[in-house]
Order: sequence, then structure tokens, then C-alpha cells
Amino acid sequence: MAAAILDGKAMSEDLRSGIARRVEKLKEAGIRPGLAVILVGDDPASEIYVRNKGKGCEEVGILSETVRLPAETTQEALEKEIDRLNRDDRIHGILVQLPLPGHLDEEAALARILPEKDVDGFHMINAGRMMSGVKGVVACTPKGALHMIKTTGLDLSGKEAVVIGRSNIVGKPMAMLLLRENCTVTICHSRTKNLAEHTRRADILVAAVGKAGFVTPDMVKPGAIVIDVGINRVDGKVLGDVDFDGVKEVAGWITPVPGGVGKMTITMLLDNTVEAAERKRELAARG
Ligand code: GUN
Repeated sequence: MAAAILDGKAMSEDLRSGIARRVEKLKEAGIRPGLAVILVGDDPASEIYVRNKGKGCEEVGILSETVRLPAETTQEALEKEIDRLNRDDRIHGILVQLPLPGHLDEEAALARILPEKDVDGFHMINAGRMMSGVKGVVACTPKGALHMIKTTGLDLSGKEAVVIGRSNIVGKPMAMLLLRENCTVTICHSRTKNLAEHTRRADILVAAVGKAGFVTPDMVKPGAIVIDVGINRVDGKVLGDVDFDGVKEVAGWITPVPGGVGKMTITMLLDNTVEAAERKRELAARG
């Protein structure tokens, strides 16, 4: 039997109406959540992401500011901009679109963002909180992917989860979230030997590789939940890391690309921004 489709578009619409209601509630208290996105240079893929983030904000009533800086921007100028947004009371979330041009220090830029405004969850403080199981900002893509996994209604405790990819943005935080759900987690990467032997054991398989069609049906356990994080542009088409047509005949659940995790990433960014505004309000109320 063909897999059930985990529809990121439908789930996002549902979640976004809840987020819009929270925005309304904040507005009644005189607070409009604000998100600033810094885009350095003119990478076409980043342009699309940033445009979609702006559209998402508009949809739920979040104030959005896009700061465009030229490709030759210095580290000092970038950090000055981050400092300005850190001080701006209208802005609850700051996101520096990655990748940055090669001459810039990504780690230093991310560390400059106030942890409470780090809606990407990339600041070391938030990454550390996640590692320690302490409440903090959770990175948007893994947060969205976990939400999709949970909609299957399966008890995740004790399940075999395999994550392909070890990036700080997806692979590592995804593995931590699944561990928190009491899965037995394996992280595979480019040096993993006999990859398919690992993936075939997975009840939950997350592909964050960056290669179109990398996960083939023979790599998938029948009935597994397959989450495709890949966004690969091939001949003008957007393709995932999973061979969707083949794998959907084996898996129990599968996310499409487009219309899967990508949509959920932006929804979680909106969620994190509203959460940052709610947290600030709570702290102010406590005095
Ligand atoms: N580039 C690709 N994905 C992301 C993301 O989730 N956040 C940021 N800041 N940059 C990205």
C-alpha cells in the first residue's frame, strides 16, 4: 500500500491560524511581534527563502523587516546591524540568512544575536540548552519535522530513528529532539559505512543530505516514517533527498517536496517569533 502523505501545507495552514490568534492576543496588549531578517548578498535561493519568510509574517500579522546588505559587507558592518536590531524593541526575532558570503564569520555573527531574539535556535546558548534538555529556542526545521512525525500518532518511545546528515542546522538538533522523545537515535553522514544497513532499520528516517533522490526504496524499512528535508534545485525543479515515487511504495508515511518540511520550517519560524514576543511580555509582567 502506498504511504500516507504528511502534508506540510495543510499542517502549516492549521498551525498558522493558531499563530495568528496568538498575534491578535499580543496586539490587544499593545505588542506586535516583529521579525528582522538580514540577507547579505544576492544568492537566488536565499532570496526565495527570505521572500517566503516575509509572506509568512504578513499572513499571521507579524511585523517583518528585511535588511539587505551588499555581498562585500564587512564583519564589522554586519555585527553593527545585528547590534542595532538587538536594541530595537519592536524586533523580537532576528535571523541572519545562511549561508553568508565566504569572507564573513558565520559563527561570530550568530553569537552576536541576543539568545532571546535568536528565533533560528542557532546561538550556542540555545544549542546548549537543547543538548541539556533545558527549555530554549528550538531550530525551525527539526521542530517542524518533529511536529510532522508526531501527527502520525505513533508512540515514538523506543523507536529506531536514523538521521542522515550532521549539520548544526538540521542533523544534530533533529537527533536531539528524537532522543528527547525516547527514540534510539543513529546519526549517519558522508563517512558512514554501509549506510543502507542503518537506514533499513529505521522506523523514522530523516534525510538531510542535500542530494536529490539520495534515499532509494531499498534503503527504507516497510512502513517507516520518511521525512525529507532536502531542497535541491535540478533543471529548474525542486527535488527532495528522497526518491519520492519509489519510496512512497515502501514507507508508511512520507513528506513531499515541495509542500513538506520546507513549509513547516517557515511556520516554526513564525511560531518562534511569537513565542519570543510572549516570553518578553511575561518577563515584563513579572517585573
Ligand atoms: N539557510 C537555509 N536554511 C536556513 C534556516 O533555517 N535559517 C537560516 N538563518 N538560514 C538558512
